[in-house]
Amino acid sequence: MNLAIVGTGYVGLTTGTCFAEVGHNVVCVDNNEEKVKSLWQGKMPIYEPDLEEMIVSNVSAGRLRFTTDLVSAVKECEIIFIAVPTPPHEDGSVDLSYIEGVSREIANALSLDLEYRIIVDKSTVPVSTGSKVQQVIERYACKGVKVDVVSNPEFLREGSAVHDLMNPDRIVIGADSLQAMDMMKRVYQPFNAPIVEVDLASAELIKHAANSFLALKISYINAVSAVCEKAGADVELVAMGIGLDKRISRHFLNAGLGYGGSCFPKDVKGFINVAEQLGSPMEILKEVERVNAAQLERFLGRIRKKMWVLRNKRIAVWGIAFKQNTDDVRESVAVKLIKRLCDEGAIVTAYDPKASETGARALEGYNVTICDDMYECARGAEVLVVATEWKQFAMANLVKLREVVRLPIIFDGRNIIHGENAIHAGFEYHSVGRKNLYPSDKKM
Ligand SMILES: NC(=O)c1ccc[n+]([C@@H]2O[C@H](COP(=O)([O-])OP(=O)(O)OC[C@H]3O[C@@H](n4cnc5c(N)ncnc54)[C@H](O)[C@@H]3O)[C@@H](O)[C@H]2O)c1
Repeated sequence: MNLAIVGTGYVGLTTGTCFAEVGHNVVCVDNNEEKVKSLWQGKMPIYEPDLEEMIVSNVSAGRLRFTTDLVSAVKECEIIFIAVPTPPHEDGSVDLSYIEGVSREIANALSLDLEYRIIVDKSTVPVSTGSKVQQVIERYACKGVKVDVVSNPEFLREGSAVHDLMNPDRIVIGADSLQAMDMMKRVYQPFNAPIVEVDLASAELIKHAANSFLALKISYINAVSAVCEKAGADVELVAMGIGLDKRISRHFLNAGLGYGGSCFPKDVKGFINVAEQLGSPMEILKEVERVNAAQLERFLGRIRKKMWVLRNKRIAVWGIAFKQNTDDVRESVAVKLIKRLCDEGAIVTAYDPKASETGARALEGYNVTICDDMYECARGAEVLVVATEWKQFAMANLVKLREVVRLPIIFDGRNIIHGENAIHAGFEYHSVGRKNLYPSDKKM
């Protein structure tokens, strides 16, 4: 099928590439000329495992193209996916101006000589956005064009986006027309995944409710981690004991510094806002946000308690990205932590395997040195903080690390370093929701 994807970011670029991979003809549209130009030159605008190879092979097979020309894409493609940003406003409501703008552009490009078109919203939006897009089309397109609007929310995770798109748990299609539903099912037929066929509004709600539930799970285990710290229990063991119950599952029960990234914070806010607008407030999600913010504060408090005053202390931070395997630093808790340490006068160095450039931009104006090597980052440190769960931090050579730090103190905000190994290498080891470990605790 001929498919257009408007918005060539984390979602649009990976979705378009995976559609091409299964045999569709795809044109990715973006209004950022630089991005389109560099994609043609083979330069990747984002880091996502396996994406570059897949783009190169599909471009050379002629199934994947990039353009700034939305009008031609609308003329050529029977289905147009919208994957533009939906950032939060100050008050937590969702900024839908990108969606409205693209809808209007599509409406203007629709002419009577075109056959039936489907406009698919892939961006995460509040319930009833689809019907507003339909109204925009009716208002701005010439009378008589045949168009349906569909919701097809995306559930990929950055860092494993290609894998998630090629092997989805389910595909949600919200359509109020049979013709649209049938065509959408043809798009997804090669993926061999269960398709959840629902109405437009339910599909939109599924996405907000799913992301909010995942954020709730994270906040739940983080709230439990605070109790564990007080009670001398181990949150990892508690999570294992809870998670083996199939009704609960172990996924998203990792205690740490809280959730961040471009989706959970804004989607929780967006869901709170839309529920309030509808007169059915989701108070439970306000508590999810409160726990999430408190988690970083509690962790900072523990570093402060250990080091007394942070001013002029050398603190090394491993991790800038909001999670492993990505260069994305939007709403990253690691970035928030670094900023807080800088604000308190600490001398901060930071290292991330993929997010040095994006991190440097996010930390502009802060007195932080971004290093090219994780051990150089730790050289002379009085505290090492692990802020992102990259595998290479979990696999760190702790003996080598001990040789470069000034004081052997680790604060592991992601519970990924092996505590026993850390104390054997001579470190004090502080983590989340578990007892602090000291070299004298060694079991031999
Ligand atoms: N990133 C994720 O993990 C993820 C997962 C699921 C859903 N989503 C949702 O998908 C949507 C997109 O997120 P993203 O992370 O891919 O955003 P992004 O910022 O990475 O990409 C958006 C792209 O849209 C382009 N764009 C903006 N206005 C445009 C216009 N008028 N015409 C053409 N292109 C335009 C931008 O240049 C950019 O390349 C959001 O609603 C987000 O909530 C994101």
